[in-house]
Amino acid sequence: MAADPQQDQRASRRGVLLGVGLAGLGGALAGCSTAAVPYGADEAGVAPGEVAAPSSTPMAGAPASAGGGMAGGGGMAGGGNAGGGMATGTLLGLTADIPVGGGVVFMSQKVVVTQPVKGVFKAFSAICTHVGCICNKVANGTIDCPCHGSEFKITNGAVVTGPASAPLPRRTISVADGKILLQ
Ligand code: FES
Repeated sequence: MAADPQQDQRASRRGVLLGVGLAGLGGALAGCSTAAVPYGADEAGVAPGEVAAPSSTPMAGAPASAGGGMAGGGGMAGGGNAGGGMATGTLLGLTADIPVGGGVVFMSQKVVVTQPVKGVFKAFSAICTHVGCICNKVANGTIDCPCHGSEFKITNGAVVTGPASAPLPRRTISVADGKILLQ
């Protein structure tokens, strides 16, 4: 009846690993929770999880074909919001860096921010829902995965081209003073 201490240790380790796994799953599920929102219903407007920039935000009006941006791993990305201002979150970049009709992939955060129409910003996980490659390009109205060619709409993350079958999960951002913050 005496407990085997080694077995206890293994069980405990399994518990820790399971906990980590579940935590990851929880994050994934949390990310997916917004996927339950029917896509297509909000393509033209601003829905929860999207941000309309203040009308005073300067924007040059880039051509609709613009896009394909990819932010590097360093710079201001990933540093958190050390300024102590009212806005909180991780600074991704500037609204002026996101082309209208296109988007930018922030590789460090695995997030893609798009601007389907001028002044409306949307964010999605850049992790492809096929088998997890990082989408690395935004072009011609889609967020593209380099591994097997899946493409997702910049408006709502919906699949345009497979093999992926699930949309890119939404990410929450806020825009303040021309800065995009990941929540
Ligand atoms: Fe993206 Fe396969 S992992 S298409």
